[in-house]
Amino acid sequence: SSNAMWGGRFAAGPDAIMEAINASIGFDKRLAAQDIAGSRAHAAMLAAQGILRDSDAEAIREGLLTVLSEIESGSFEFSTALEDIHMNVESRLKEIVGEPAGRLHTARSRNDQVATDFRLWTRDQIDAAIGGVEALIRALLVQAEAGADWVMPGFTHLQTAQPVTWGHHMMAYVEMFSRDLSRFKDARARMNESPLGAAALAGTSFPIDRHMTAEALGFDRPMANSLDAVSARDFALEFLSNASICAMHLSRFAEELVIWSSAQFRFVTLSDRFSTGSSIMPQKKNPDAAELIRAKIGRIFGANVALMMVMKGLPLAYSKDMQEDKEQVFDAADNLMLALAAMEGMVKDMSANRPQLAAAAGSGFSTATDLADWLVRVLDMPFRDAHHVTGSLVALAESKNCDLPDLTLEDMKSVHDAITDEVFGVLGVDNSVASRMSYGGTAPEQVRAQVARWKEVLG
Ligand code: ARG
Repeated sequence: SSNAMWGGRFAAGPDAIMEAINASIGFDKRLAAQDIAGSRAHAAMLAAQGILRDSDAEAIREGLLTVLSEIESGSFEFSTALEDIHMNVESRLKEIVGEPAGRLHTARSRNDQVATDFRLWTRDQIDAAIGGVEALIRALLVQAEAGADWVMPGFTHLQTAQPVTWGHHMMAYVEMFSRDLSRFKDARARMNESPLGAAALAGTSFPIDRHMTAEALGFDRPMANSLDAVSARDFALEFLSNASICAMHLSRFAEELVIWSSAQFRFVTLSDRFSTGSSIMPQKKNPDAAELIRAKIGRIFGANVALMMVMKGLPLAYSKDMQEDKEQVFDAADNLMLALAAMEGMVKDMSANRPQLAAAAGSGFSTATDLADWLVRVLDMPFRDAHHVTGSLVALAESKNCDLPDLTLEDMKSVHDAITDEVFGVLGVDNSVASRMSYGGTAPEQVRAQVARWKEVLG
């Protein structure tokens, strides 16, 4: 049989394969609440503008609430023959309220309908992402405040570089995640315009009020160009880009947790609640949550690339290609929220191994730069010469299989005879971090100031 929505033009129904490739209901049922909110706003506007009788609009708006409750309770029967969420909802509305249901689609198309639904859905996800990132930042601030003066090695090339503080390391991620936060907020402000009323592509001859529906749906304003309104998916791509960058940050931190929780590092202990065991090796406690977070960037950035490829080269206005937008965004959003929540949980639960961090901070000639700086400050040496002298002292310590503070004053003098025993004061890791008082440096005082600033920002 031919389709109830456009049967007038068709003598035969679709092939089974046509139905399979065409239907989106399997996934766009997730837009049900947004679709119904959009239709309710549209019906109210049509009535207010005298395009629809008040009694019809009321029947439609009531009937849509019934449909929503059926969907929420799980009693709604989705039909693949009805293609998508829009036609599933409308068809059920017809069963419930009869003739007025056929008047709802006046001055509207599925093209502006789906663009509206998808913007509303993506907007909710942006809000959820903002909440998730904020919660993670709060968890990091707790760690940073507790460990503002716990020394640990800082790395470049994953080789010991200079001592830093645990708090400073945590606060580096606070900065990164706070930029993710502002990217999500930017995207939200930019995308919060209503496509509804663009109709198929050209607008409509009915005297609609797009400002009214925009306001009812929490949009700041209607989109200014009807072709753009039904064609644009950059709001989804912007969400995916921001999600990708955020997932990349999560992945870097996750990688550090994997390394730090290894028997070789022992910098942190992850909680049992966020670890798993092995079915064969009884001693194992694996950082699976961190590993999975590390992997999420793969599918999230994959979604970003996939949708970019779908959209490139599409002529205006709507093409069915665009139906492929939703699964990418759904999957990326689901996995970003999961990764954020898992990371927040891990950060809340994890405990730093202070003695091990301190021991590691002092090894690997981590205070060599402090020694060079001392030669500059006290002996008035040019930095390049100080670098060379310090390098020789490191080589000497390495040959004696000891660290810099273990060298004797005679050892020091054998390399440069003006060195005095005052130098040993700068070789300790606590002095090293305390001395890095430059703005944004690792000194505990600086870290505490940044923690206080962020607490105030977040309220
Ligand atoms: N299911 C479609 C989508 O997801 C809805 C819009 C269909 N519009 C059309 N003209 N076929 O994009």
